[in-house]
Amino acid sequence: MAPGERHAEPVVGGKPLRALVLEDDPADFEILEHHLRAAGFRPECTRVETEAEFAAQLLPNIDVVLSDYKLAGWDALRALELYRTSRLDIPFILVSGTISEEVAVECMKRGAADYLLKDRLGRLGPAITRARNDIAEKRLAESLSSRLLKAHEEERKKVARELHDQVGGAMATLLLGLNDLDSGLPPDGPAQVQLQALKRLAEENVAIVRNIALLLRPSMLDELGLIPALNWQAREVFRRTGMEVAVDADDACDHLPDEYRTCIYRLVQESLQNAARHAKAAHARVTVREEPAQIRLSIQDDGAGFDPRHQKGMGILGMEERVRHVGGVFHIDSQPDQGAQISILLPRGRTGDGTKE
Ligand SMILES: Nc1ncnc2c1ncn2[C@@H]1O[C@H](COP(=O)(O)OP(=O)(O)O)[C@@H](O)[C@H]1O
Ligand SMILES: [Mg+2]
Repeated sequence: MAPGERHAEPVVGGKPLRALVLEDDPADFEILEHHLRAAGFRPECTRVETEAEFAAQLLPNIDVVLSDYKLAGWDALRALELYRTSRLDIPFILVSGTISEEVAVECMKRGAADYLLKDRLGRLGPAITRARNDIAEKRLAESLSSRLLKAHEEERKKVARELHDQVGGAMATLLLGLNDLDSGLPPDGPAQVQLQALKRLAEENVAIVRNIALLLRPSMLDELGLIPALNWQAREVFRRTGMEVAVDADDACDHLPDEYRTCIYRLVQESLQNAARHAKAAHARVTVREEPAQIRLSIQDDGAGFDPRHQKGMGILGMEERVRHVGGVFHIDSQPDQGAQISILLPRGRTGDGTKE
């Protein structure tokens, strides 16, 4: 059978399996198909040999990639590179005649789910099933954690609204009542002194409640957009910590969909908090740029710096999780005494580019 041709199997039951097979030896390909059937699959295999054929057939409807190591003019390492840039969530299994342990390990490091020797193809079925289960589990964990993130954000919104409306409202009524009392009391008596103290206390509490509500979820993030919320955050950080924060954002970013707005806001919040708390930075700079295919965010500080490979806590892991949730890329550049720069790329279009999630 020529490369690229689909081999339709007679229907004899078994689980359907669409396999993309990188194999330049037709006889080995036949053996592989035989083992797939023996393992209880109903395989629909597409055999490819060249880089171009592989790239053209590497499509989301594939269930598994099975790849020989040595191919004419190229090898599985290059195939793994193409596979990784495709970002497809399907297992890549190496099936090779001879392969050294170093090569096998290298392939696993570059994203292969497993490797098998051609004279031990009895393991093929279990290897495919395990690799597919691993991916299904990973998907489930990711979808659970992204649902959790969303639920958490919704909860914050609700608590913020409740605090602002209920507690803030009650405090405002209290202040009105105290003002009424004020006009009925003699101006210099002890009751007046006590009343003024109560009014100050009530005013302070109105401000505290409003601030807690804003910190939980700034209403301006929903009402006015991202940039006013970032500017507010910059002022708030300066007020609390003395660290000066410059915000440089493209105007267009104001109207990003909720998912991006929240993500960027929370990333900036955590980064600034880290810069002020851990790095004792004097200055920080937040940059948000909107490019046709992506949003580029960076948060830079001039603080103590750190080694990001060894000092990840819940904050950084949470940022990585948020970025992964929208399919983006997260990178920290920092060394002790050199400040830190967090760079994030968020691809547009995942949630329909400009539409609400
Ligand atoms: N901008 C920064 N400058 C210096 N150190 C940082 C910075 N950001 C994070 N760190 C270091 O990385 C650690 C992990 O940060 P993070 O994951 O946010 O957890 P947490 O803030 O809860 O400690 C911090 O404890 C700190 O040592
Ligand atoms: Mg932190």
